[in-house]
Amino acid sequence: MALEDFANRLARNARHWRKWARRRGIECFRIYDRDIPEFAFAVDIYGTHAHLQAYDRGSDMGQVGAPEFLAQIHATVARVLEMEGDAVVLKLRSRRHAGEQHQKTGVHGEDFVVNEGGHRFLVNLHAYLDTGLFLDHRNTRTLVAEEARGRAFLNLFCYTASFTVYAAGGGASSSVSVDLSNTYLEWAARNLALNAVDRHRHSLERADVLRWLEQAVEAGRSFDLIVLDPPAFSASKAMQQVFDVQRDHPLLLERCARLLAPGGVLYFSNNLRSFRLERVPAVLAAEEISARSVPEDFRNRRIHRCWRLLRRTA
Ligand SMILES: C[S@@+](CC[C@H](N)C(=O)[O-])C[C@H]1O[C@@H](n2cnc3c(N)ncnc32)[C@H](O)[C@@H]1O
Repeated sequence: MALEDFANRLARNARHWRKWARRRGIECFRIYDRDIPEFAFAVDIYGTHAHLQAYDRGSDMGQVGAPEFLAQIHATVARVLEMEGDAVVLKLRSRRHAGEQHQKTGVHGEDFVVNEGGHRFLVNLHAYLDTGLFLDHRNTRTLVAEEARGRAFLNLFCYTASFTVYAAGGGASSSVSVDLSNTYLEWAARNLALNAVDRHRHSLERADVLRWLEQAVEAGRSFDLIVLDPPAFSASKAMQQVFDVQRDHPLLLERCARLLAPGGVLYFSNNLRSFRLERVPAVLAAEEISARSVPEDFRNRRIHRCWRLLRRTA
């Protein structure tokens, strides 16, 4: 396949997904998702900018990582999308860095505001590998908002608190959002402010989620709606040990089940390819909803898996 094949496919996709997004009032969406396997890129539109991610397929970046090839791809994306070169931000996503997805790039770039679902979010396409808004959870955020009215909401591994913004907008009576990173909690605070979320009722707490859950269970706290969207792996000085979603999810689910009021709902999601759901507490009825939660604009239907777990009433 030649570069022109990539350009043609990108142009066709851009026409299709831009129209799709316009009809739905969506500003941030995926227009290219490794549609041609030799061109292992994802292209996401964020308002007037594009986020271009290059994936490697093994330990060696090979052609995908070669600087001249990347420069050609970057120029092609800018030309096809009719954007200035600096509006297209290129990132390398190497598998070697799996689990370090929040690392800094060394470039600060600019924060800007995007709209989604009637809410506003600050994004930054330069500073970190991730942008501040995970587009593959756009549908999940809507599901959470639809169930939030009058409910006490808990957002675990909250990152920039996009689920909290939706829950507050959907009428949650209160919320607690927990993350270990001061950087992301500050970003979360700015997102809450941008959406005029009342910080007396919606709090942000810095903690290791596993420890926070242990204390919340001991204190007898209760929530009606929980989002549990952990990274596949994470490590930090503030944690007792490395977090591994495959190993640790049974304990997370058990502690969440204890916090859920009868009839309460837990959304659990992660993006570990090899993930297997294990030892679901008997008090929770699990339904996999990935077919609905993964948005239409993601051709990679395995970008994440998501379950809705209902706390039985008896
Ligand atoms: C995959 S993101 C979560 C995405 C988020 N749920 C969303 O949809 O926007 C991972 C987040 O988990 C946080 N994190 C990682 N390990 C943690 C831990 N043990 N306790 C609390 N937060 C943690 C990171 O700081 C980061 O903000």
